Amino acid sequence: MNKPTDVARTVTDATPIKVPTLPDAQTVTAVEHYTDRLFSFRVTRPQSLRFRSGEFVMIGLMGEPDPKTGKQKPLLRAYSIASPSWDEELEFYSIKVPDGPLTSRLQHIQPGEQIILRPKPVGTLVHDALIPGKRIWFFATGTGFAPFASLLREPQTYEDYDEVIITHTCREAGELTYGRNLIEALKDDELLNEVIGEGFWKKIKYYPTTTREESPKMGRITDLMNSGECFEDLEVPVLNPETDRAMICGNLAFNLELKAMLESYGLEEGANSKPAHYVVEKAFLD
Ligand code: A2P
Repeated sequence: MNKPTDVARTVTDATPIKVPTLPDAQTVTAVEHYTDRLFSFRVTRPQSLRFRSGEFVMIGLMGEPDPKTGKQKPLLRAYSIASPSWDEELEFYSIKVPDGPLTSRLQHIQPGEQIILRPKPVGTLVHDALIPGKRIWFFATGTGFAPFASLLREPQTYEDYDEVIITHTCREAGELTYGRNLIEALKDDELLNEVIGEGFWKKIKYYPTTTREESPKMGRITDLMNSGECFEDLEVPVLNPETDRAMICGNLAFNLELKAMLESYGLEEGANSKPAHYVVEKAFLD
């Protein structure tokens, strides 16, 4: 068994190394880990890639070789772009699933390494899918915060609305870190302060909650809305179709429950082709 490998190594040493090029390769520029379940990373942005804040793309790594044919296929999943449309790089926020086909490997990615990124952005969590309103609600659980990380850094969010409410429900307090840091950093965001005006961030109301670890506000956002506690805390009325617009991004059960609640308040689901009061997208889990 050793012999052919030794021969191959000798030959490789003597000839130029042939590095297999990934299709649609982008280079990782930064990685940050928040908990044993969450991390974010930044990659180079293809020059031709245009997207609307809130959209997602397919990203991934080359899969393991097929044991029979030896062929490798890309292993791709849908990821919301967490950076805004004006950013020079692209940012992603991801869960780490120990035996998840992609994230078990993606979590070990290092700056300088490459990922595959298909430059075809799509998605429903875009301003174009909503009709004008006064107040926008971003409802997230877990990594569902990602598209809102993009939209919260997007000038149009503050141009279009007087008030921006972001709710984020996570199991544990550490899982709020990425969102909390990002919202804190908005106060010093040069572009937004210049384009929207100093103090634009006062439009933001941030409502983080946890369900399985002690924190200042505990409970599922759905329960806090049903009891009225959330509206009291935020000092806003219950959502209504005249003034409120909403975007939902979380796990499937959460999306369905919240969607039913918004419908009960009289809001109607919108789409790119038919803008209305709210839009929904499932957060990536693997
Ligand atoms: P809980 O701990 O009560 O399940 P996950 O990590 O499983 O995707 O969950 C992220 C957060 O979303 C958790 O705080 C979880 O609360 C909450 N959650 C899960 N399902 C729902 C739902 N149907 N409605 C509201 N919140 C939910």
